Amino acid sequence: MAKPRSVFRCSDCGTSAPKWVGRCPGCEEWNTLVEELEVPASASTAALLGPSDRPVPISEVDVDEWTARATGIGELDRVLGGGLVPGSVTLVGGEPGIGKSTLLLQAVASIAADGAKVLYVSAEESKQQVRLRAERLGSLRPSLWLASETSVPHILDFVDEVQPEVLVVDSIQTVHHPDVGSAPGSVAQVRESASRLVTAAKSRGLAVVLVGHVTKDGGLAGPRVLEHVVDTVLAFEGDRHHALRLLRAAKHRFGATDQLGLFEMTDRGLIGVPDPSRLFLADRRKGVSGSVVVPTMEGHRPLLVELQALVTPSRLASPRRSAQGLDSGRLSLLLAVLGERAGCSFAEADVYALAVGGVRIAEPAADLGVALALASALVGVPVPADLVVCGEVGLGGELRQVSQTDRRLAEAARLGFGRALLPRLAPDPPAGIAAVRVATLAEAIDAAGLDLDRRGHPSGAGHPARHGSAGDGPARSHERDPWAAPRLRAVDPSEIPDTVPDDLFEDPF
Ligand code: TYD
Ligand code: MG
Repeated sequence: MAKPRSVFRCSDCGTSAPKWVGRCPGCEEWNTLVEELEVPASASTAALLGPSDRPVPISEVDVDEWTARATGIGELDRVLGGGLVPGSVTLVGGEPGIGKSTLLLQAVASIAADGAKVLYVSAEESKQQVRLRAERLGSLRPSLWLASETSVPHILDFVDEVQPEVLVVDSIQTVHHPDVGSAPGSVAQVRESASRLVTAAKSRGLAVVLVGHVTKDGGLAGPRVLEHVVDTVLAFEGDRHHALRLLRAAKHRFGATDQLGLFEMTDRGLIGVPDPSRLFLADRRKGVSGSVVVPTMEGHRPLLVELQALVTPSRLASPRRSAQGLDSGRLSLLLAVLGERAGCSFAEADVYALAVGGVRIAEPAADLGVALALASALVGVPVPADLVVCGEVGLGGELRQVSQTDRRLAEAARLGFGRALLPRLAPDPPAGIAAVRVATLAEAIDAAGLDLDRRGHPSGAGHPARHGSAGDGPARSHERDPWAAPRLRAVDPSEIPDTVPDDLFEDPF
């Protein structure tokens, strides 16, 4: 057989070059050339797949063999939409140390508990290491087979020998195929190894799970190509310093991608978190300024998350803005809107904002929550403890309603929150939680009981309308003397009751 040859192909336009160059000679893009193996036609995937399939009427296609097999790990099955499908290839991506090996060892042990044969191939750890971990996890099962191997042809031999129903390869970046000259982890190696394993999965009806490390910026190390050859891509995320782990489907040929699986990393391995909101709010201190609870959606799953902000005087020429678990661009935008539309200037302050518990919140529905946390931290007044907040903030300071308000608020009501601060046009909340409707960010700040006059905001000309609605600008600020006694009584943190008295939201005028 002719030895396969390496070529370098542009991932954008497909132009090939015999040597790597920084700039594609075809489309002139930079850094798009990736090494590829020119596989001789006889060894191509199509040839390995055997005789080509025949067309059949859609109703006669046999789907029985494609029924998912539950792994028995509830949160994993939730994301997979039932379980692993025979003949499918699933890629589990995540940063090193996040818990991919732990999750998959637990999953295969759980499958093996039913007597099904599973093969776990570790290309990173010895069999002894894996066994010790399995012992610690209580995952020793007679039908769980282990191998420590890096060569793909050997792995395929093991599959023929053991005849497992599920094969885990940990990780795709550390295995290699001897036909490819380049080192393990290179694009050509990863791609070739994956395509051999995909072929094996399809031809044997074997469910294959590949582990893939991701780089710091979140991409799968090396190949985007992997995402195309597999059926399902799961992303395992979380902050290594927190116990919480999130599992999401980024691509799923057998179901929806909007499910979220939640785990807690414990000394007994990963444990599913059936009630994440309670976990997120467990350490919350009520009555502290800068803390706001927002009901966010992760796919179809509502999650209550505490947002925190801290505002301190800055000595820096350009004050610090730090966002953790929140988008830093969105934080800057909200600071600008707060300054221009709600009279909250952060010009001489360092600002820190974070989502508690290691979650990352990307949706604009958390805007109002972030803004109120910032305003609360600025004035040093806590927002009511039984208040949740949702709404998107526009550049004009106007509030926009968000999707799935009912699900968000039902979750808030379940956890004992009594009020929700909502954009004016938001749908009615479910039973058990009352709506406080506001049209602008300035109104929201007022309604949450944050008195801007309390901390160094002598206003006058240009003090924005805190009772105005979107569009009527500062014109109504004359209605109230900014130096008059605070409209709502100042709240001492120790006085904040668990349930806020009704009169806090009443308009005294
Ligand atoms: P691991 O599954 O090896 O991560 P990955 O395969 O994604 O690189 O897990 C790594 C971390 O998980 C490790 O730092 C220790 C921690 N861990 C626990 O906290 N409890 C456990 O029971 C196990 C097995 C691991
Ligand atoms: Mg690992």
